[in-house]
Amino acid sequence: MYEENNLDSKFNYKEWKKILGFVRPYRKLIIYLFISSIMLAFAIALYPMIARYALNNFIIVQTTDGLGYFIAFIIVVVLAQALFDIIWGAVAMRIDLGVGKDMRHTLFKHTQTLSIEYFNKTPVGFILARINHDTHSMGGMFSWMLGSAIDHVFYIVFALVNMFILSTTLAWIMLVIIIVLVIVTGYYQKRLIGLNRLTRSQNSLITAAYNENINGVQTIKSIGCEKLIKDYFDSVNNTMRSKTMAVDKVKRSFIFIVALLGGAGIALIIYASVPLVYQKLLDIGTLSAFISYSFAIIPRVEDLTYMINNTISLQANVERINSLMDSAPTVFDQQDIIDKYGDIYKPKYENWEPIKGDIEFCDVSFKYPQSDTYVLKNFSLKIPAGTSIAIVGQTGAGKSTLVNLICRFYEPTSGTILIDGIDYKKRSLLWLEDNLSYVLQSPHLFSGTIKENIKYKNPLASDEDMYTASKLAQAHNFIEKLDKGYETDVGQDGGKLSTGQKQLISIARALMANGKILILDEATSSVDTKTEQLINSITSEIKQDKTSFIIAHRLASVKSADIIIVVDSGNIVEMGNHKQLLSKHGLYYNMYTSQRFDDEQDKFFKEKNTL
Ligand SMILES: Nc1ncnc2c1ncn2[C@@H]1O[C@H](COP(=O)(O)OP(=O)(O)OP(=O)(O)O)[C@@H](O)[C@H]1O
Ligand SMILES: [Mg+2]
Repeated sequence: MYEENNLDSKFNYKEWKKILGFVRPYRKLIIYLFISSIMLAFAIALYPMIARYALNNFIIVQTTDGLGYFIAFIIVVVLAQALFDIIWGAVAMRIDLGVGKDMRHTLFKHTQTLSIEYFNKTPVGFILARINHDTHSMGGMFSWMLGSAIDHVFYIVFALVNMFILSTTLAWIMLVIIIVLVIVTGYYQKRLIGLNRLTRSQNSLITAAYNENINGVQTIKSIGCEKLIKDYFDSVNNTMRSKTMAVDKVKRSFIFIVALLGGAGIALIIYASVPLVYQKLLDIGTLSAFISYSFAIIPRVEDLTYMINNTISLQANVERINSLMDSAPTVFDQQDIIDKYGDIYKPKYENWEPIKGDIEFCDVSFKYPQSDTYVLKNFSLKIPAGTSIAIVGQTGAGKSTLVNLICRFYEPTSGTILIDGIDYKKRSLLWLEDNLSYVLQSPHLFSGTIKENIKYKNPLASDEDMYTASKLAQAHNFIEKLDKGYETDVGQDGGKLSTGQKQLISIARALMANGKILILDEATSSVDTKTEQLINSITSEIKQDKTSFIIAHRLASVKSADIIIVVDSGNIVEMGNHKQLLSKHGLYYNMYTSQRFDDEQDKFFKEKNTL
């Protein structure tokens, strides 16, 4: 099972510093957020003082003198508060959306530069969660949460200053209550965040179980293990329930204790202030202001401790974003190559040399990055441009590995691969990709229509070119028969089509791309023999100006290749054309004759049954 790096539970400034880079472009907005939060806190902190003034100067002395000015002042304060509230919300929204968008952009762009190796070892869910969830949390933190925190801190400061001005004794009592609240809330929030982490990881298990169930639905039904899957799901689902109950219990006891403490605090303030009112050391207006401040400060203290703890727990998100950003591609262009040929976003086409298609493996050895076993050892092979090569061999012999090396999905562990006589690392990755047409062993279709899939590389290509490619790939006939023809929606990963149809569309897409190097890795494995033969005869026409590689288990379909290489455990054990290999009476001969024998047997039984 995939495990993320251990996440730090302590505040780690270095991790935060990296993320702060995303906030820097929004410096100006953050300053506005600061100012509007402070002004908002100030306006709200004025209300208890306004009430105090009204009580002392109008109600108690029973006069309305100056009430008009006073009301006008209140209206100004209310309007100012509303204005700062609007500015505050608008600024926070801009920061939230901006930081989130920039982070998603950078992560997506970075993910595109990562090598195949990264995607082989990292579950899709991990990458999606970083791009979606973590960036969202960061955007919210640097906007709404930061704004609220500033507002709360300044409210508490303004309120305390006013309290100290009005009555030092009562203000000290309030300060002690705040400190006790911070300690208790801090303790509870820490426990809650820990428990929440547990429920979140339990939730991931539920999502994973759902995912497996949906993706593997056919396999589950085919082996009839629904009960087993349901039992597992029930067990994680029940654990989720009990863990959430535990969180809820702590939450409720927390709410109870805080309410108790808050209530006791307010009672204490009233208890201490009433005698002062009797002794005329405190007026009614001031008492009312104190009570209002106490009611307003307590929830803000709770909120602030929550925010502090939440920020610490968000460090997990920060670390995960950094871990994705820090994963470096294993296959990449050196700086001098980027300077000359450009990168994937800004290619310098003017410096791209046209490709001829000569390919040479020079003493290439290769092992997959996480593995100790060599798949290819000291492999050398010279392929002149325009040659058609068939690669045959047993399952796991290294056929796909060989073509993956040509595509630079991986680079040789030692040795070099030359294209047109030059080490292919001396040209850019995009240059190579642009000259490739590759039909993968397990073809992938993008969501959308058949047309969009075939024209994927160049959506502006003409329909005529699309029809030609589809006809050559033997896809045109079946596409035409579909209700919506080329406009048919293929479904998630081509789920609405048969595997053979998906293969034919992938071949059409590769032919549309028209690369000088054509690779068909088991591209017709699910296609009927007659269609396969048609594709073979037609592709041999196209193959004339291309260097082509065909990997196939059905040897009948590789007979016409210029060179057939038989690979076994990463070594070429036989090489030559069909006739030469048969005359050797070696591995190829054995494979070919056993397949012929199977075909003959099939034919014999078919004829017998029809008699
Ligand atoms: N990503 C990978 N990481 C580690 N080992 C791998 C990886 N991909 C393939 N291998 C190993 O490399 C060897 C060659 O695999 P490869 O896919 O090239 O075989 P193949 O000849 O194409 O087989 P098939 O006919 O089944 O497609 C196998 O032993 C396989 O286990
Ligand atoms: Mg393969």
